Amino acid sequence: MNDAAKPGLAVEFDDVVKDFGTVRVLHGIGFALEPGRVYGLLGENGAGKSTLMKILGGYQPQTSGTIRVNGRPVAFSSSRDAEAEGIVLIHQEFNLADDLSISDNIFLGHEKKRGLLLDNRAMHAESAKVLAKVGLAVDPATKVSRLIVAEKQLVEIAKALARNARLLIMDEPTATLTPSETNRLFRLIEEMRADGVTVIYISHKLDEVERITDEVIVLRDGRFVGRSPTKDISRRQMANMMIGREVNDLFPPRAPVPRETAPALRVTDFSVPGWAEKISFEVRPGEILGFAGLVGAGRTELFEGILGLRKGSGRIELSGRTVTFRSPREAADHGLTYLSEDRKGKGLHVNFGLGENLTLMALERYVKPLLDPSAEHAALEAAVKEYGIRTGTLRNKASALSGGNQQKLALAKVLHPEPKVVVLDEPTRGVDIGAKRDIYFLISRLASQGLAVIVISSELLELIGVAHRVVVMRAGRFSAEVDGAHLTEQELIAHATGTANVDA
Ligand SMILES: Nc1ncnc2c1ncn2[C@@H]1O[C@H](COP(=O)(O)OP(=O)(O)OP(=O)(O)O)[C@@H](O)[C@H]1O
Ligand SMILES: [Mg+2]
Repeated sequence: MNDAAKPGLAVEFDDVVKDFGTVRVLHGIGFALEPGRVYGLLGENGAGKSTLMKILGGYQPQTSGTIRVNGRPVAFSSSRDAEAEGIVLIHQEFNLADDLSISDNIFLGHEKKRGLLLDNRAMHAESAKVLAKVGLAVDPATKVSRLIVAEKQLVEIAKALARNARLLIMDEPTATLTPSETNRLFRLIEEMRADGVTVIYISHKLDEVERITDEVIVLRDGRFVGRSPTKDISRRQMANMMIGREVNDLFPPRAPVPRETAPALRVTDFSVPGWAEKISFEVRPGEILGFAGLVGAGRTELFEGILGLRKGSGRIELSGRTVTFRSPREAADHGLTYLSEDRKGKGLHVNFGLGENLTLMALERYVKPLLDPSAEHAALEAAVKEYGIRTGTLRNKASALSGGNQQKLALAKVLHPEPKVVVLDEPTRGVDIGAKRDIYFLISRLASQGLAVIVISSELLELIGVAHRVVVMRAGRFSAEVDGAHLTEQELIAHATGTANVDA
């Protein structure tokens, strides 16, 4: 890092086209950005936001068209080239080396040397500095594999800071952050703008876009469809521009509260050392149970414990039978499936085909005795339709789907074995507003069909919109169970932060 202030970059896209094989995903995009402003880049899942930014960031070449930086045409052959110009991209799907330390990741490809040797001490010190800036209080020597998702996101941001960006691109940076981490990030963005840095901010959270950006630019189906100063446009107008039509009510009518029946899943005094202590809950067939809490409250870890992904202890009963699971696979065999919040790490096999991903948890159905490719193909066709997955061709690998479409595939995958209980961990993360609505309606439909649904979410409004009942966890403990008229944002925040009974 050097502290000499450099002005931000001006960028011009001129008729940028991108083809993947025979599929055109960017159809001649043209718009220009001025230095020192914060731009919101909006568009539905698959609109081409990440693709355009990966081209600007040197991660992939355009098929045709020109990008000019400060008036000069550029052709980056790698992200290092782009970074040398001051263009830094923070990926939607993290781009960290899990087996290296935080510090090694921050300086990967930009190692500091003293003579011929690596200057580990200097890199460690610099890392500590940028980590403090983003508010991550961990030792830079910690291996990335030991971090939780939100911490990885903060490392990504720290890494970008250390690279002295003059144009910083953030692709869905706050998806995993707590409100206070988000606020800190926004202060950093303000500082960068004040320093003249150009910022491109991609997010489906329109309230954030409204708060932090000067101007929004909207893509639809690989085309530029418009731009507007943020202050002149409402969130509803943004959504309409993205989707190209009026957006209807986000939430379905609430599924009727199911009759008092035996629980589909009952968990009693379940503990996951270091993460969750003696948590008990139950969910009935037809019921939607929400799990609220701040990031790090232990919700994901609790369910990872239940599924045998972490060491845990306690009683688990499925339809009245006591069970233990050694793996999510085993749980799926018993009728309990889990959508991981970490879709790249644990949710999907990004290098596998779409069909293989879909059928992985219900393989028996397709193996008789050999895998039946036509049955798999038919299942995939049906799923693509049912879940509205946008893909150029069915023969794609999962890695070729846009972030939001990967999420839809992950959802299709956990519902494919037709479970009795499904646990959805942050099911709408990175998903556009139209697809979000589809997912809420899907959840409600699943419940009406008698499935017990657990939704873990950091978006309180989404839990209030869909859940019958919400369990709030705080710092690994049960904090409250909330339903009916108490299901309000204030009430949930109070329990999540531990301020519920302060003035009682
Ligand atoms: N490597 C690839 N091979 C084939 N198709 C791809 C590849 N990468 C992206 N695509 C396709 O390009 C289109 C645009 O994807 P992109 O990731 O840019 O969308 P996005 O606007 O970032 O969406 P999201 O909001 O879901 O992140 C999608 O249809 C996607 O399937
Ligand atoms: Mg994207």
